[in-house]
Amino acid sequence: MARKTECCRLNGLEISLIVLFLLMTAVSVGLITVLALKLDSEKQEVTPEEPSPSVDPPENPYLIGVGRADCTGPVADLPMMGYANTEQTVRGIHTRLFSRAFIVDDGSKRVVFITADIGMVSQRLRLEVLQELKAKYGDLYRQDNVVISGTHTHAGVGGYFQYTLFMITSKGYIKPSIQAIVSGIVKSIDLAHRNLRPGRIFINKGQLVDSNLNRSPHSYMNNPEEERNRYEFNTDKQIVILKFTDLDGDGMGLLSWFAVHPVSMNNTNRMVSSDNLGYASYAFEQEKNIGFLPGEGPFVAGFSSSNLGDSSPNILGPVCVNTGEKCDYLNSSCPIGGKKECLAFGPGEDMFESTRMIGENMYKKAKELYSRAKQELHGPVYGAHQWVNMTDETVPLNSTHTVSTGFLFFGSFNWDTNGDPFWDGIRDAVLGPPSNETTACHRPKPILFSTGEMNSPLPWHPAIVDVQIITIGSLAIVAVPGEFTTMSGRRIREAVKKELEVKESFANAEVVVAGLCNIYTHYITTYEEYQIQRYEGASTIFGPHTLSAYIQRYRGLAKAIAHGTIRDLPKGPDPPFFDEDKLFNQVKDPVADLAPADTVFGDILEQVNPSYKVGEIASVTFVAGNPRHSGDIRDKTFVTVERFHNDTDSWEIVHTDASWETRFHWIKGLAGRSQSKVEWHIPLTAQTGTYRIQHFGHYKQIMDNNTITTPYVGTSDAFKVTKSFYYY
Ligand SMILES: *[C@@H]1O[C@H](CO)[C@@H](O)[C@H](O)[C@H]1NC(C)=O
Ligand SMILES: *[C@@H]1O[C@H](CO)[C@@H](O)[C@H](O)[C@H]1NC(C)=O
Ligand SMILES: *[C@@H]1O[C@H](CO)[C@@H](O)[C@H](O)[C@H]1NC(C)=O
Ligand SMILES: *[C@@H]1O[C@H](CO)[C@@H](O)[C@H](O)[C@H]1NC(C)=O
Ligand SMILES: *[C@@H]1O[C@H](CO)[C@@H](O)[C@H](O)[C@H]1NC(C)=O
Ligand SMILES: *[C@@H]1O[C@H](CO)[C@@H](O)[C@H](O)[C@H]1NC(C)=O
Ligand SMILES: *[C@@H]1O[C@H](CO)[C@@H](O)[C@H](O)[C@H]1NC(C)=O
Repeated sequence: MARKTECCRLNGLEISLIVLFLLMTAVSVGLITVLALKLDSEKQEVTPEEPSPSVDPPENPYLIGVGRADCTGPVADLPMMGYANTEQTVRGIHTRLFSRAFIVDDGSKRVVFITADIGMVSQRLRLEVLQELKAKYGDLYRQDNVVISGTHTHAGVGGYFQYTLFMITSKGYIKPSIQAIVSGIVKSIDLAHRNLRPGRIFINKGQLVDSNLNRSPHSYMNNPEEERNRYEFNTDKQIVILKFTDLDGDGMGLLSWFAVHPVSMNNTNRMVSSDNLGYASYAFEQEKNIGFLPGEGPFVAGFSSSNLGDSSPNILGPVCVNTGEKCDYLNSSCPIGGKKECLAFGPGEDMFESTRMIGENMYKKAKELYSRAKQELHGPVYGAHQWVNMTDETVPLNSTHTVSTGFLFFGSFNWDTNGDPFWDGIRDAVLGPPSNETTACHRPKPILFSTGEMNSPLPWHPAIVDVQIITIGSLAIVAVPGEFTTMSGRRIREAVKKELEVKESFANAEVVVAGLCNIYTHYITTYEEYQIQRYEGASTIFGPHTLSAYIQRYRGLAKAIAHGTIRDLPKGPDPPFFDEDKLFNQVKDPVADLAPADTVFGDILEQVNPSYKVGEIASVTFVAGNPRHSGDIRDKTFVTVERFHNDTDSWEIVHTDASWETRFHWIKGLAGRSQSKVEWHIPLTAQTGTYRIQHFGHYKQIMDNNTITTPYVGTSDAFKVTKSFYYY
């Protein structure tokens, strides 16, 4: 190994590039986390429940609308958007993905905040959403008053990007994938729009100390000491919530921000999942929407991403999985096996448990803050937005010098993992196959493309970036185009607050960072963190002064809001919207489905047991079609768990594929022979009784050159669920 490294160094002239996309995500795992925080089991302060606010509603109440809609796309054989592991294609559903919309109107102006269970918002996605909104609503919902934020779940589906690099990682621009997200987001806005009614908004905040950890403390430590000393922790522990009620005080919704990566589900997962933030939404909504199945019911609880750049949910920290040793503090490397043996783990027994535990922590804290929220937001709403050419921003360095941003990648950054054949393929296509010598030299280091200079077939990376702030009363939501680190988030919040505070109504402004909004530009570190060139710094694509450039821009927006000069803000250069026929798609339609001899679709291959105790897993396997043949699956389900009612002789649906308790695994076989394995992880709280599991799908056949898709249903035997001995 040492020799190879040497050889690469000697041949430094060779293009030694890093596959940037790996940074954007693989990165995101706590793979590189180093446990620097001593987690103290600080007791959460318990204050007595406070009564609901009793003051009369304001004279000019806000109009408030909340809406939630399914945005789950195709769930078979497409690359998942997250770890950029091309082997990690989607094969089923653990929990569904939803878009949650919140509209607030002050009587003359309106702002919309959307949090969607997706990896990030892409420019293409946002532009398509805005186009649909324009067609439906004219000028009501626009680029300046609509913020779209992605939770950053790493268990959604890709295919919704127009820039080459992202198209490559997603195997192209995949129409059914982006269409599901666009339609889901627009539908959530439609629902919120339709149920607009007078209401009130309360704000509250608190600390959640046990749910995130800084995965690059070495970078964080490079920030100035005086600055670090102002903060107790090296991640933000603050959770901010908004409580939306109608004028009777009945809850309509909750919206919260907390900085943690939704990477509790790791890169071995193959099921669509909304991860830890999604679990918090799920738990909150299930509690409020009594009697409704998941994803249904009027109450909407959004848990939005924030400055999560260096904030990992894997709070047990990194460890060398082969030897049990600590990973190297500086480079997260293991003595044997290097970086790939260094993995970080969450608090649970497995990734599902970790997802639930981190989600539960956020849910419980939000619930406590919600029940005690009494500070009310009053006053106008504003939206300020600009498009900025981030490759061409100038910021003052000191009194005499300025510096500029630009696409910037550091070859010095060592991403030490095995090359991926897919990337080798792209590299060969673009640069020609490397000589045997070069290959030997650079393995296992993959090749980096300097994406900023690449414009073929289309630009590889965006240059035109959205900067946006919306405000509701004294709350400012800073919509940032990527993953700000902890300290970057703190700096931008502080800068925005300072600008806003000149206006009296913002005297006590609360500023939150909403992450992964509008367009994705990877990470944003501080200048000091950038120097360390860990993942976050190395994937700060507009260079060391990126944060300064953003702070300058967001201050400009805040100033315009405070001074009432939003109209004077230059709109900036329009982002490109590439013709669809110029976008490529490498995803083929799945082959026709085949049922094994003597079976039909929906037949059982492995039957359930006659009875289970709570806490056990009921499992059944069906002859199945490819889930992609079910077309648009939004608002449908592949799975039901049903309980028998003797009195009415009927089956009641108790779970769908959106339920946490169910897992729908699609098992791909050869030549179109698929199976669906459905698991019900029977909760301890399940009622005893008689149950069955149903599976719904479609199979495709080709007859006389015509494609025919046909629905099918499979039904398990009925089985009993009993309480175990211990629960009597
Ligand atoms: C990580 O740093 C240690 C020293 O702290 C060094 O021995 C090791 O070679 C480094 N590993 C990598 C992959 O850079
Ligand atoms: C993913 O989580 C599973 C447990 O659910 C664990 O066995 C596995 O090692 C984890 N893999 C990674 C890469 O973290
Ligand atoms: C962005 O700025 C760069 C550098 O000045 C320039 O080459 C490019 O044309 C600009 N892009 C757009 C879309 O204005
Ligand atoms: C400003 O920064 C430049 C570049 O680092 C340096 O050469 C110059 O002396 C600085 N000027 C002042 C006034 O600090
Ligand atoms: C590289 O190695 C392969 C197999 O060892 C050989 O067939 C091929 O000719 C070599 N290519 C070059 C360019 O040397
Ligand atoms: C269902 O109802 C019938 C008559 O109403 C009763 O005889 C039978 O025991 C019930 N079965 C169960 C499982 O409760
Ligand atoms: C199917 O399509 C092919 C090519 O268009 C055509 O040659 C063939 O006759 C068609 N077969 C039938 C049964 O229509």
